[in-house]
Amino acid sequence: MPVKQPFNEIAKKYDLLNDFMSLGLHRAWKNSLFGALSDGLPQSARVLDLATGTGDVASLFLKRLPPERIFAADPCEPMMNEGKKKYPELKQWHCAMAESLPFEEQFFSVVTCTFGVRNFQDRTLAFQEIARVLKPNGKFGILEIHPIPQKLRYFPFRIFWRYGIPLWGRLFSRLRAYEYLRDTAAQFISPEVMVEELQRFFEIEERKPLLGGGLVTLIVAKKR
Ligand SMILES: C[S@@+](CC[C@H](N)C(=O)[O-])C[C@H]1O[C@@H](n2cnc3c(N)ncnc32)[C@H](O)[C@@H]1O
Repeated sequence: MPVKQPFNEIAKKYDLLNDFMSLGLHRAWKNSLFGALSDGLPQSARVLDLATGTGDVASLFLKRLPPERIFAADPCEPMMNEGKKKYPELKQWHCAMAESLPFEEQFFSVVTCTFGVRNFQDRTLAFQEIARVLKPNGKFGILEIHPIPQKLRYFPFRIFWRYGIPLWGRLFSRLRAYEYLRDTAAQFISPEVMVEELQRFFEIEERKPLLGGGLVTLIVAKKR
Protein backbone atom coordinates (compact mmCIF):
# COMPACT_ATOMS: atom_id res chain seq x y z
CA MET A 1 0.00 0.00 0.00
CA PRO A 2 1.50 3.40 -0.91
CA VAL A 3 2.31 5.18 2.33
CA LYS A 4 0.21 8.24 1.78
CA GLN A 5 -2.93 6.38 0.65
CA PRO A 6 -4.44 5.81 4.12
CA PHE A 7 -4.09 9.51 4.81
CA ASN A 8 -5.73 10.43 1.48
CA GLU A 9 -8.71 8.35 2.56
CA ILE A 10 -9.11 9.83 6.02
CA ALA A 11 -7.90 13.42 5.49
CA LYS A 12 -11.31 15.01 6.04
CA LYS A 13 -11.93 13.07 9.25
CA TYR A 14 -8.34 12.96 10.51
CA ASP A 15 -8.69 15.67 13.19
CA LEU A 16 -11.91 14.25 14.58
CA LEU A 17 -10.40 10.77 14.65
CA ASN A 18 -7.22 12.01 16.28
CA ASP A 19 -9.28 13.56 19.10
CA PHE A 20 -11.31 10.38 19.55
CA MET A 21 -8.43 7.95 19.32
CA SER A 22 -6.20 9.86 21.77
CA LEU A 23 -9.09 11.21 23.90
CA GLY A 24 -7.79 14.67 23.00
CA LEU A 25 -4.38 13.94 24.52
CA HIS A 26 -2.53 14.56 21.24
CA ARG A 27 -3.09 18.29 21.82
CA ALA A 28 -1.28 18.21 25.18
CA TRP A 29 1.54 16.10 23.70
CA LYS A 30 1.99 18.55 20.82
CA ASN A 31 2.06 21.44 23.31
CA SER A 32 4.77 19.62 25.31
CA LEU A 33 6.88 19.32 22.18
CA PHE A 34 6.32 22.98 21.35
CA GLY A 35 7.33 23.91 24.93
CA ALA A 36 10.53 21.87 24.64
CA LEU A 37 11.55 23.59 21.39
CA SER A 38 10.29 27.16 21.61
CA ASP A 39 12.22 28.45 24.63
CA GLY A 40 14.63 31.14 23.48
CA LEU A 41 13.74 30.72 19.80
CA PRO A 42 14.70 34.03 18.08
CA GLN A 43 12.22 35.80 15.78
CA SER A 44 14.64 35.21 12.92
CA ALA A 45 14.43 31.40 13.30
CA ARG A 46 12.80 29.21 10.67
CA VAL A 47 10.81 26.11 11.65
CA LEU A 48 9.80 23.13 9.53
CA ASP A 49 6.94 20.86 10.62
CA LEU A 50 7.51 17.67 8.68
CA ALA A 51 4.70 15.12 8.10
CA THR A 52 2.60 18.10 9.13
CA GLY A 53 -0.74 16.47 8.21
CA THR A 54 -3.32 19.15 9.00
CA GLY A 55 -0.70 21.54 10.39
CA ASP A 56 -1.34 21.45 14.17
CA VAL A 57 2.29 21.68 15.26
CA ALA A 58 3.19 24.27 12.62
CA SER A 59 0.32 26.43 13.92
CA LEU A 60 1.68 26.35 17.51
CA PHE A 61 4.77 28.24 16.32
CA LEU A 62 2.54 31.18 15.27
CA LYS A 63 2.74 32.13 18.97
CA ARG A 64 6.48 32.79 18.56
CA LEU A 65 7.35 33.45 14.92
CA PRO A 66 6.06 35.43 11.94
CA PRO A 67 4.01 33.13 9.63
CA GLU A 68 6.50 33.37 6.75
CA ARG A 69 9.14 31.68 8.98
CA ILE A 70 6.96 28.61 9.60
CA PHE A 71 7.07 25.85 6.96
CA ALA A 72 4.76 22.83 6.80
CA ALA A 73 5.58 19.82 4.59
CA ASP A 74 3.83 16.53 3.83
CA PRO A 75 3.49 14.28 0.75
CA CYS A 76 -0.30 14.07 1.20
CA GLU A 77 -2.05 17.08 -0.38
CA PRO A 78 -5.54 16.25 0.96
CA MET A 79 -4.20 16.37 4.55
CA MET A 80 -2.54 19.73 3.93
CA ASN A 81 -5.70 21.06 2.24
CA GLU A 82 -7.54 20.48 5.52
CA GLY A 83 -4.71 22.29 7.32
CA LYS A 84 -4.91 25.27 4.94
CA LYS A 85 -8.62 25.68 5.82
CA LYS A 86 -7.90 25.42 9.57
CA TYR A 87 -4.88 27.73 9.66
CA PRO A 88 -5.16 30.32 6.87
CA GLU A 89 -2.41 32.36 8.61
CA LEU A 90 0.14 29.68 7.63
CA LYS A 91 1.45 30.43 4.15
CA GLN A 92 4.29 27.96 3.56
CA TRP A 93 2.88 24.53 2.62
CA HIS A 94 5.18 22.17 0.69
CA CYS A 95 4.33 18.81 -0.83
CA ALA A 96 7.43 16.80 0.12
CA MET A 97 8.67 13.58 1.63
CA ALA A 98 11.17 13.54 4.49
CA GLU A 99 13.61 11.56 2.33
CA SER A 100 13.94 14.39 -0.21
CA LEU A 101 13.42 17.87 1.22
CA PRO A 102 13.18 20.83 -1.18
CA PHE A 103 15.14 23.18 1.10
CA GLU A 104 18.73 24.37 1.11
CA GLU A 105 21.31 23.29 3.67
CA GLN A 106 21.20 24.81 7.16
CA PHE A 107 17.89 26.58 6.46
CA PHE A 108 16.01 25.73 9.68
CA SER A 109 16.62 26.17 13.42
CA VAL A 110 14.00 23.59 14.33
CA VAL A 111 12.39 20.62 12.57
CA THR A 112 9.41 18.84 14.15
CA CYS A 113 7.76 15.58 13.22
CA THR A 114 4.75 14.31 15.18
CA PHE A 115 3.44 10.81 14.49
CA GLY A 116 5.17 10.82 11.12
CA VAL A 117 8.53 9.05 11.55
CA ARG A 118 6.89 5.62 11.46
CA ASN A 119 5.64 6.41 7.95
CA PHE A 120 9.06 7.27 6.54
CA GLN A 121 10.12 4.89 3.78
CA ASP A 122 13.82 5.21 4.62
CA ARG A 123 14.53 6.55 8.11
CA THR A 124 18.31 6.84 7.63
CA LEU A 125 17.85 8.93 4.50
CA ALA A 126 15.16 11.02 6.18
CA PHE A 127 17.28 11.68 9.31
CA GLN A 128 20.21 12.61 7.06
CA GLU A 129 17.99 15.03 5.12
CA ILE A 130 16.66 16.57 8.32
CA ALA A 131 20.23 17.04 9.60
CA ARG A 132 21.17 18.60 6.24
CA VAL A 133 18.45 21.28 6.39
CA LEU A 134 19.10 22.07 10.09
CA LYS A 135 21.61 24.70 11.21
CA PRO A 136 24.48 23.48 13.44
CA ASN A 137 22.98 22.89 16.92
CA GLY A 138 19.50 23.01 15.35
CA LYS A 139 16.88 20.85 17.05
CA PHE A 140 14.77 17.97 15.78
CA GLY A 141 11.67 17.31 17.92
CA ILE A 142 9.74 14.06 17.56
CA LEU A 143 6.55 12.61 18.98
CA GLU A 144 5.92 9.00 18.07
CA ILE A 145 3.87 5.93 18.94
CA HIS A 146 6.01 2.86 19.60
CA PRO A 147 5.15 -0.81 20.13
CA ILE A 148 3.41 -1.55 23.41
CA PRO A 149 6.08 -1.57 26.16
CA GLN A 150 6.55 -4.88 27.99
CA LYS A 151 4.75 -3.68 31.10
CA LEU A 152 1.57 -2.93 29.11
CA ARG A 153 1.51 -6.32 27.42
CA TYR A 154 -1.24 -7.53 29.67
CA PHE A 155 -4.32 -9.08 28.15
CA PRO A 156 -7.00 -6.30 28.22
CA PHE A 157 -4.66 -3.72 26.71
CA ARG A 158 -3.61 -6.11 23.92
CA ILE A 159 -7.26 -6.83 23.11
CA PHE A 160 -8.03 -3.09 23.00
CA TRP A 161 -5.05 -2.45 20.72
CA ARG A 162 -5.79 -5.40 18.44
CA TYR A 163 -9.57 -4.95 18.03
CA GLY A 164 -10.64 -1.75 19.83
CA ILE A 165 -8.60 0.74 17.79
CA PRO A 166 -9.81 -0.45 14.34
CA LEU A 167 -13.37 -0.82 15.65
CA TRP A 168 -13.27 2.72 16.98
CA GLY A 169 -11.87 3.96 13.68
CA ARG A 170 -14.56 2.05 11.78
CA LEU A 171 -17.25 4.09 13.51
CA PHE A 172 -15.95 7.16 11.71
CA SER A 173 -13.88 6.07 8.78
CA ARG A 174 -12.66 3.17 6.70
CA LEU A 175 -11.32 0.28 8.71
CA ARG A 176 -8.22 -0.20 6.55
CA ALA A 177 -6.76 3.14 7.53
CA TYR A 178 -6.95 2.27 11.22
CA GLU A 179 -5.61 -1.20 10.82
CA TYR A 180 -2.71 0.56 9.11
CA LEU A 181 -2.29 2.88 12.11
CA ARG A 182 -2.28 -0.01 14.58
CA ASP A 183 0.02 -2.19 12.48
CA THR A 184 2.56 0.52 11.69
CA ALA A 185 2.80 1.31 15.43
CA ALA A 186 3.05 -2.39 16.40
CA GLN A 187 5.75 -3.08 13.79
CA PHE A 188 7.66 0.10 14.55
CA ILE A 189 10.96 0.32 16.44
CA SER A 190 11.23 0.98 20.19
CA PRO A 191 12.29 4.43 21.48
CA GLU A 192 15.69 2.90 22.36
CA VAL A 193 16.31 1.84 18.75
CA MET A 194 15.12 5.20 17.45
CA VAL A 195 17.61 6.95 19.75
CA GLU A 196 20.41 4.74 18.37
CA GLU A 197 19.43 5.57 14.79
CA LEU A 198 19.23 9.30 15.54
CA GLN A 199 22.67 9.30 17.18
CA ARG A 200 24.29 8.91 13.77
CA PHE A 201 23.39 12.53 13.05
CA PHE A 202 22.20 14.02 16.36
CA GLU A 203 22.89 14.23 20.09
CA ILE A 204 19.87 13.30 22.20
CA GLU A 205 18.87 16.20 24.47
CA GLU A 206 15.64 14.85 25.90
CA ARG A 207 13.68 11.61 25.84
CA LYS A 208 10.42 11.60 27.76
CA PRO A 209 7.68 8.94 27.87
CA LEU A 210 4.33 10.74 27.67
CA LEU A 211 2.04 7.72 27.88
CA GLY A 212 2.24 4.10 28.92
CA GLY A 213 5.94 4.04 29.81
CA GLY A 214 6.99 4.86 26.24
CA LEU A 215 4.01 3.92 24.05
CA VAL A 216 4.03 7.64 23.19
CA THR A 217 7.49 9.22 23.48
CA LEU A 218 8.86 12.73 23.01
CA ILE A 219 12.45 13.04 21.79
CA VAL A 220 14.46 16.22 21.26
CA ALA A 221 17.70 15.73 19.33
CA LYS A 222 20.36 18.35 18.50
CA LYS A 223 22.30 18.35 15.23
CA ARG A 224 25.91 17.44 15.83
C1 LIG B 1 -0.38 10.30 11.55
S1 LIG B 1 -0.17 11.64 10.40
C2 LIG B 1 0.52 12.88 11.46
C3 LIG B 1 0.04 14.26 11.12
C4 LIG B 1 0.45 15.37 12.11
N1 LIG B 1 1.88 15.51 12.21
C5 LIG B 1 -0.15 15.13 13.48
O1 LIG B 1 0.60 14.88 14.43
O2 LIG B 1 -1.38 15.20 13.60
C6 LIG B 1 1.25 11.11 9.47
C7 LIG B 1 1.60 11.99 8.29
O3 LIG B 1 2.84 11.52 7.73
C8 LIG B 1 2.80 11.80 6.34
N2 LIG B 1 3.85 11.01 5.64
C9 LIG B 1 3.77 9.77 5.12
N3 LIG B 1 4.94 9.40 4.56
C10 LIG B 1 5.79 10.44 4.74
C11 LIG B 1 7.15 10.69 4.37
N4 LIG B 1 7.89 9.77 3.74
N5 LIG B 1 7.70 11.89 4.68
C12 LIG B 1 6.98 12.83 5.34
N6 LIG B 1 5.69 12.65 5.71
C13 LIG B 1 5.10 11.48 5.42
C14 LIG B 1 1.37 11.41 5.96
O4 LIG B 1 0.99 11.94 4.72
C15 LIG B 1 0.58 11.96 7.16
O5 LIG B 1 0.08 13.25 6.92
